Amino acid sequence: MFRAFRVAFAAACIGCALIACAAELPSVSKSTEGAQLLVNGKPYLIFGGELGNSSAGTAAQADSILPRMARMHLNTVLMPVAWEQIEPVEGSYDFSILDHWIDVAREQHLHLGLLWFGSWKNGFSNYAPAWVKTNTARFPRAVAADGTELEILSTLGTETQKADSRAFAALMKHVREKDQEQQTVLMAQVENEVGYLGRGRDRSPAANQLFQGSVPAEFIQSLQSHRDEFSPELRAHFDPAGRTWAEVFGDAADEVFMAWNYARYIQAVAAAGKQAYPLPMYVNSQLPAPGERAGEYPSGGPHPYFLEVYRATAPSLDFYSPDIYWPNFEYWIDRYSFKGNAVFVPETRLESAPYNAFYAFGEARAFGFCPFGVNSAQNNAASGTGPDIKEVYEVLDSMSEMLIPAQAAGRTRGLVLHNNSPRPAKTVSLGGYLFEATLSRSWPARSLMEDDGAMIVVQSAPNEFFLAGAGLTVSFFRDPDTDNKLGGIASIEQVERAGGKWVAVNRMNGDESNQGRQLMMEAHQVRVYRVVLYAVERAAF
Ligand code: DGJ
Repeated sequence: MFRAFRVAFAAACIGCALIACAAELPSVSKSTEGAQLLVNGKPYLIFGGELGNSSAGTAAQADSILPRMARMHLNTVLMPVAWEQIEPVEGSYDFSILDHWIDVAREQHLHLGLLWFGSWKNGFSNYAPAWVKTNTARFPRAVAADGTELEILSTLGTETQKADSRAFAALMKHVREKDQEQQTVLMAQVENEVGYLGRGRDRSPAANQLFQGSVPAEFIQSLQSHRDEFSPELRAHFDPAGRTWAEVFGDAADEVFMAWNYARYIQAVAAAGKQAYPLPMYVNSQLPAPGERAGEYPSGGPHPYFLEVYRATAPSLDFYSPDIYWPNFEYWIDRYSFKGNAVFVPETRLESAPYNAFYAFGEARAFGFCPFGVNSAQNNAASGTGPDIKEVYEVLDSMSEMLIPAQAAGRTRGLVLHNNSPRPAKTVSLGGYLFEATLSRSWPARSLMEDDGAMIVVQSAPNEFFLAGAGLTVSFFRDPDTDNKLGGIASIEQVERAGGKWVAVNRMNGDESNQGRQLMMEAHQVRVYRVVLYAVERAAF
């Protein structure tokens, strides 16, 4: 009896130890409030950056780049992994470069996101191995309207899809074997900015045949069941009563057809990768420039117009991401803040990133943000042209303990202002108050001190808010939609995190608060301010 108990007890302990060893893999958790990236079971914010395309092609580059990234206060680096690099000869894999990057990332306490440059990178197929590029019979190309074979692999190459899936699965299997315990690698992007470049659509024989047939009924049904979530563009182009692509999708037929084909292909690649190692997987999109038409921007990519096609077709993808290079950053990130998505910006302009980061984490409640070409960053602050991304990340990181739950509870806001913003002031509402921001001006000359400003607002308690940012003057009002009370400032302190606590380093009043009326942020440096507001009944006259 006693022996049986001992054996059972020992077996249970071994079981516990095994469970404890098998660390929880990174995952994306979605709720009605929003979504979070979980790392070791806890919500995690990516203060990241994406490397230039040719920055991770050798092992030695890791030694010079990653320590710099750590000094810039990044916690995650997105790095390309090219198909041609890991499978130069069919069926024979070489992960030595990646392994070194993982080792150096660990030394630097950095995480990595892998960008799978497989069949497509920015629409083209230049990262496919030579054995793929040179065998157009086995790996067919997309064909242009004039019959030219393009340097773009067709989405309808069955062998191409299999070969890409095999290579990606081999990559993920290798990452699992090397990294499952330490989890330096957090996630993988499947392909890069896919979409057909050229007029219309792929006109390869296989594509023509498929396009002339009926739209598969299950695809139409799947779209139908999400009709409430359609983008305005899809809603305007969807007639489920039709049969052919042209009948169902009207003049968006070419684009939707391409989106469906890219989504089907990517689903196969992502599913193969997930089977080997189920990390979060996503796709990124090159967004249309103003006035650009499909085919000028990659047609059928996962941009918001027809993203529903991906959602209906590629269940192995965890989220969809915008690469935002256009000035209307807020518009594009807002289009990816839809129910069921987890907001992550894998690429954005480095120059405007220090400002847009506040909007991304505060307003779009992103779990991550990555300026592109981060390894070529100049230090803005040092050259006197406003904050740099390092300062912004330091400050947001210092706030992350409160920021993460506040994001999940909808208690954050953010805004960005530029000298050429359509309105010189922007207002956000949170916790019963209005926060009205204008760009910082000098006193008494009233000239602009900086062309840009941005802030994040985090509610920490009733009437207490942490504002972080630069370049703004903020006025506070009671929100008339809440009640008719009189609102005002009780106190403003500039605070810093020290020893796990917020410490006031400057209590701002008098001239430094425009006589108790405004928060006057530093114009060029990112600071955190704790602002306590009050609301009182108005006197009855
Ligand atoms: C977007 C691409 O996804 C990146 O790989 C890079 O080519 C940038 N554009 C360059 O601006």
